[in-house]
Amino acid sequence: MVQLLVNGAKYQYDGDQDMPLLWYLRDVLGLTGTKFGCGIAACGACTIHLDGIAVRACQTPVSAAEGLPVTTIEGLSPGGDHPVQVAWRTLNVSQCGYCQPGQIMQAAALLKESPNPSDDDIDTAMSGNLCRCGTYPRIRAAIKQAARGGRP
Ligand code: FES
Ligand code: FES
Repeated sequence: MVQLLVNGAKYQYDGDQDMPLLWYLRDVLGLTGTKFGCGIAACGACTIHLDGIAVRACQTPVSAAEGLPVTTIEGLSPGGDHPVQVAWRTLNVSQCGYCQPGQIMQAAALLKESPNPSDDDIDTAMSGNLCRCGTYPRIRAAIKQAARGGRP
């Protein structure tokens, strides 16, 4: 039995503890904001926070989340008003949107760690989050705007 804490709510899971946390979040809890892209930790679409750290849910077994807070895009901010989300909306970052929950979770973890990131910091932190629509310039601009407290 694994005790889980997802977006502030407690759950117990008694299935396969090696199952990817991504399946648990999407298929058991119905938290489909976290996306499946590659399944091999190569695209970042499934990025969540585990104990405040950005991780790939597709390569994280359920057992690794035992006792640690898990945050998905649904739980990042109750009203969707995390500074990163606000900047994303202001700058219309999303195109098709598929990669964006992962991008936002990765960016939120970056700003928690490094509130005023340099271009290099941003490039390094975001390098594992792929966007087939090529929204990278807007992602970088939105991260900077969020870091400035929303100022253009
Ligand atoms: S689906 Fe997890 S990194 Fe691509
Ligand atoms: S917005 Fe389409 S893949 Fe990133």
